[in-house]
Amino acid sequence: MADRVRTAVFPVAGLGTRFLPATKAMPKEMLPVVDRPLIQYAVDEARDAGIEHFVFVTGRNKGVIEDHFDRQFELEYTLEQRGKTDELAELREDLPQPGRSSFTRQQEPLGLGHAVWCARELVGNNPFALLLPDMLIKAAPGALSQMMSAYEERGGNIIAVEEVDPKDVSSYGIVGRGEGPNSAFDITSMVEKPKVEEAPSNLIISGRYILQPEIFSLLSKHNKGAGGEIQLTDSMQTLMESQNFTGVKFDGRTFDCGSKVGFLTANLVYALDRPDIADDFTKEIRALGLNTPI
Ligand code: G1P
Repeated sequence: MADRVRTAVFPVAGLGTRFLPATKAMPKEMLPVVDRPLIQYAVDEARDAGIEHFVFVTGRNKGVIEDHFDRQFELEYTLEQRGKTDELAELREDLPQPGRSSFTRQQEPLGLGHAVWCARELVGNNPFALLLPDMLIKAAPGALSQMMSAYEERGGNIIAVEEVDPKDVSSYGIVGRGEGPNSAFDITSMVEKPKVEEAPSNLIISGRYILQPEIFSLLSKHNKGAGGEIQLTDSMQTLMESQNFTGVKFDGRTFDCGSKVGFLTANLVYALDRPDIADDFTKEIRALGLNTPI
């Protein structure tokens, strides 16, 4: 049986330049979709998949993330005084248990592969999940839970994938598809940000991974790849020579919140799914007179 995945890594050191000036003093992972910060969605998805230890790879100016995952006694006291018990309960539920979150810093922005390598001491010699909070995935069960089912069956390394318009493949890591159903198929190749004519498919790596710890020694070579960055995809490609990689084409919808349009669309879709505001919000959108089926 495959070793249980208890730890999840969240790389949150990026500068968020695409959202300036909003991200000048605030981490991009704290941008809200409706009323929850992006990072909270990723943590919720991980917890729902059975993760117990939450490892954040942060950078300068990211202290707020650590505060977000801590108690806030003044706020709790005020909510209690005002009888806002639901809000209070929800705040408490959002927190990892005491002692089950860890923070380390990526001291230089050298790429995703480097960020993951920075988590090596905290992860240890264990399989781990990796979630990129920019990629918000609306799915039930969550994308990582769907991947856990494939992991229990096949072990090894698991990558969530989805199809994109071929014109977009050069913005992502792309995998080649081998035998097997959508819920668990062999990955035959992978390449980071290929030109469209060199891409093995239009299946992108969607920002969710389950990886074996052998990835760390490959990442420690610090080889640079696409864009001059230390790319996780390059080390995974090398690891494919000795370990299995399984693709999971999950049921769900991804919002690439690293882009403004993806982020705004996420807000729209999540808001329309919220019973407390959906009706009022729909009315406002209709009043705009847009040609929309809402
Ligand atoms: C990273 C990964 C890429 C993946 C993407 C998903 O790229 O390197 O393989 O497809 O995340 O968002 P980045 O967006 O950091 O350039």
